[in-house]
Amino acid sequence: MKAAIVEAFDHPPRYADFAEPIVGDGEVLVDVKAAGLHQVVRSLASGRHYGSTGELPFVPGLDGVGRLANGQRVYFAATRPPYGTFAARSITRPAMCVPVPDELDDVTAAALANPAMSSGAALMRAQFVAGENILILGATGVAGRLAVEIARRRGAGRVIAAGRDAKALAELPALGADSVISLNQEQDALEKAFRAAVAEAKINVVLDYLWGQPAETLLQAIGRKGGSFAAPRIRFVQIGSMAGEAITLPAANLRSSGLELLGSGFGSASPQQLLEAVGEIFQEAARKPFQISVNPAPLEKVESLWNNSEQGVRLVFQP
Ligand SMILES: NC(=O)c1ccc[n+]([C@@H]2O[C@H](COP(=O)([O-])OP(=O)(O)OC[C@H]3O[C@@H](n4cnc5c(N)ncnc54)[C@H](OP(=O)(O)O)[C@@H]3O)[C@@H](O)[C@H]2O)c1
Repeated sequence: MKAAIVEAFDHPPRYADFAEPIVGDGEVLVDVKAAGLHQVVRSLASGRHYGSTGELPFVPGLDGVGRLANGQRVYFAATRPPYGTFAARSITRPAMCVPVPDELDDVTAAALANPAMSSGAALMRAQFVAGENILILGATGVAGRLAVEIARRRGAGRVIAAGRDAKALAELPALGADSVISLNQEQDALEKAFRAAVAEAKINVVLDYLWGQPAETLLQAIGRKGGSFAAPRIRFVQIGSMAGEAITLPAANLRSSGLELLGSGFGSASPQQLLEAVGEIFQEAARKPFQISVNPAPLEKVESLWNNSEQGVRLVFQP
């Protein structure tokens, strides 16, 4: 069958012939219709992601939309390397499939599931309840923009969005942000802006897509001075690390505040939780579409389009 194939970690996948998947016990064959080029797909194909097996060659793609042998249209997660979703056919297990509502086309569902699930699952991890206030760190990417919309739709009290791209940041109030914070300011000014947001908006949950310096500055601002008691709980959920893999976290920031550090992703959230989050997102999208920009492309163009990362747009390949 035709597929994208990762043959080296330092080169984009090639479109070529790959062995047909052989269905094992408890597995089902999927006729793939669309699969998104998410950040995690790029990261796994470069061998840098913590989920990388280090083995070559393999078909990239973690999730997609396709048809099962019984004709059912499903969103599914790839379950057994080397068979990814950037191919004519892939394999999965029935428990890793979510029905796609008729209101959602293949390409939109494939684009939406991963970035939207990121905040849906993180809000589950944080045990968010309607009325709580949310700060989204890194709100200008596909997942961050959806997080703004999802926070608003799920009944957040205040939604504060932080990011570095001025144009993208200016669009976020229309998606549901009450206020925005630019990351393009001096360290002291940014810490002050975060400190004011944490205190005045009484932030309960942080959804962090960046880590690195922006997260370090926010965590510094969450730390309190003056030794007052009973700091409010702030559940800081780590989701992505676009700005850096490591930070320095002073011990006092934890001792002086109600800070609780959590992660949300493969490993910290169970596959069932992640798929449940996808199912909820699909139901919400069927009722009212999310605002997501999608660029569909034929899979044969995978090599030339691999490093094309148009801001705020999700590339979706169709075999
Ligand atoms: N854990 C999960 O369940 C899960 C699920 C989906 C995604 N994620 C992760 O979430 C992150 C975002 O994914 P995405 O789909 O939204 O990707 P995306 O559409 O490519 O967006 C990436 C965003 O990161 C920003 N960014 C990159 N480097 C930055 C820096 N040094 N400082 C500040 N901002 C920076 C970009 O800002 P500019 O526009 O200014 O470049 C852009 O807004 C990725 O790390 C992804 O792996 C996690």
